[in-house]
Amino acid sequence: MAIAPDFHLTHQGEFDLSPADAISISDLLHASFDQYPAGRIFFPQPPHLRILCWQKSDLVGHAAGVIREVRVGEHTMMVMGVADLCVAVPNHRQHLATKMVEHVSTLAKKRGISLLMALSGEKEFFSDVGFEEIDPKCTWLAYLGGKSLGLCRRPLHGDVWVKPLTERPWPEGDLDFLGPMF
Ligand SMILES: CC(C)(COP(=O)(O)OP(=O)(O)OC[C@H]1O[C@@H](n2cnc3c(N)ncnc32)[C@H](O)[C@@H]1OP(=O)(O)O)[C@@H](O)C(=O)NCCC(=O)NCCS
Repeated sequence: MAIAPDFHLTHQGEFDLSPADAISISDLLHASFDQYPAGRIFFPQPPHLRILCWQKSDLVGHAAGVIREVRVGEHTMMVMGVADLCVAVPNHRQHLATKMVEHVSTLAKKRGISLLMALSGEKEFFSDVGFEEIDPKCTWLAYLGGKSLGLCRRPLHGDVWVKPLTERPWPEGDLDFLGPMF
């Protein structure tokens, strides 16, 4: 299904964001996530790319793409993390987030990345767009207020989603983020 005619998607690398884009992203992130760190458009590290959904010149949707190597069991692999996915409340349930995830999938596949990963409690949405929930023991660098707090090791019960973009399934094994979560 194509995106509704009123809307269009763009994507850009982090270096290419204009100051006006950054303000629009900040407004949408802070309206969408109660706890989003004040004055920031990323947490904890800048993403590699942004998918933006526009209604004329208004930003109504955002997804950050984070290219990461992670370890699963004995192997490392590249994944595309989908972070800070949000749609302005008046535009919910118009399949805009679905279109942004499809767009990230296409970009990831073109660059040879065959797995999307998301960290979210939005079960209905992520299962609807073809992600599967996994529950491995996770290791990550905890980070808060600009300081590293140390390594955490525990399952994240219900918050880790993966979407293989090829026939190869997600492998078994503990998941090491090799750094902070996204
Ligand atoms: C989660 C979020 C991004 C979904 O955006 P959206 O554009 O409304 O989602 P879509 O329209 O593409 O939804 C696709 C499907 O997901 C499911 N879905 C989405 N939101 C849902 C909800 N609130 N309750 C139940 N199912 C939902 C539905 O099956 C929906 O299809 P349908 O409308 O045909 O039934 C949006 O609700 C949001 O911005 N939430 C706040 C930020 C957030 O929590 N982001 C989570 C990821 S970090």
